Amino acid sequence: MTDLFDKFDMSQSSLGQHADYLEDYFMFPKLEGALGPRMSFNGKPVLNWSLNNYLGLANHPEVRRVDGEAANEWGLAYPMGARMMSGNTVHHIELERQLASFISKEDVMLLNFGYQGVLSIIDAVVDRRDVIVYDAESHASILDGVRLHMGKRFVFPHNNIENLEKQLKRAKKLADETGGGILVITEGVFGMSGNLGKLDKIVALKEKYNFRLFVDDAHGFGTMGATGAGAGEELGVQDQIDLYFSTFAKSMASIGAFVGGNARAVKFLRYNLRSQIFAKSLPMPLVIGAMKRLELLRDHSEHKDNLWKITKALQSGLRENGFNIGTTQSPVTPVILSGSVPEACNMVYDLRENYGIFCSLVIYPVIPKGIIILRLIPTAVHTLEDVKETIATFKELKSKLDDGVYLREEILVLEK
Ligand SMILES: Cc1ncc(COP(=O)(O)O)c(C=O)c1O
Repeated sequence: MTDLFDKFDMSQSSLGQHADYLEDYFMFPKLEGALGPRMSFNGKPVLNWSLNNYLGLANHPEVRRVDGEAANEWGLAYPMGARMMSGNTVHHIELERQLASFISKEDVMLLNFGYQGVLSIIDAVVDRRDVIVYDAESHASILDGVRLHMGKRFVFPHNNIENLEKQLKRAKKLADETGGGILVITEGVFGMSGNLGKLDKIVALKEKYNFRLFVDDAHGFGTMGATGAGAGEELGVQDQIDLYFSTFAKSMASIGAFVGGNARAVKFLRYNLRSQIFAKSLPMPLVIGAMKRLELLRDHSEHKDNLWKITKALQSGLRENGFNIGTTQSPVTPVILSGSVPEACNMVYDLRENYGIFCSLVIYPVIPKGIIILRLIPTAVHTLEDVKETIATFKELKSKLDDGVYLREEILVLEK
């Protein structure tokens, strides 16, 4: 027998093993100053491409005003319990009504956090007789929800519709035996690759396999579709999505989330979603602030237009300069390079310290060894100058990487 806490030795954790030398810089970096494309990191100004603020609403003067006024008027304590018991208000109900109308669903339920919401939706919707079929590149909240499931689950390779159909055949056979149903789970926009989920192809299989579709559209809400209602609108299949989820953590630049569906489904969730029944409801400033954000997202398309202007300039500029940005169809922009983990760290150190550009670094073990992804998230408040500066910098960086400049055992950050 061992002491339970022996496993807390960080050397055993896949990310934690790097904590001693990567912490504070590559992991848990501390950005300073006011939020925006131009921030400060380690006391130096940086151009930041790592903000979950697609539409630039985080610092919109109307948003800041309403957030402040709501915090003043209501405080953070109110309401004082779970929605079902003592945490319901007319504001929560009104926000749900507006969201439902915007995403063309009969009803919507607010969630305190997206991650817990997704987990809890999966937990509530399926029981041990039911079968889950899900995309292999799904977000951790989906994977963790699937782990809670007591019945069978089948995974299909990312966006592989042929294989999905194979899994659906297996799922249907099983569900016919158990008397259960089938839940297919995918994303509207995949947050690492920027790919859209093939929702149109997926819904085309609904009739044959009689499944329900749950879509996590965290990155699609506000960024995709003619009105910004998301990937379902973009692909013309919003009405075929049985449970539509998004978080307030991206385009809405806040905290909270929601799930929409027909009235019967949302009523069921209100009485069965453990993450909401047993947790305090969203504080009033977040609810009132979300209403202002939704108004700007819905009624002011210039934010989405700006986002796409920057996205197109960034993505076409990178492509024209020979960069591999994969198959993205959304603002998410992965720059895919080859190199080792130490090379990646040296390169990002150089990028931050000497070129003043901050973006996320994705390396092994999150992705396979030998691949480096620099992930850029454009926003409506970046400028074309920011794009130009970034592309010029990335060109220099790539030629250094190709010339082996970053091929050193030790990590430059240790030499500070
Ligand atoms: C695809 C996806 N689903 C769910 C979540 C979780 O949302 P939240 O941050 O509101 O917990 C995120 C991250 O924010 C996400 O990217």
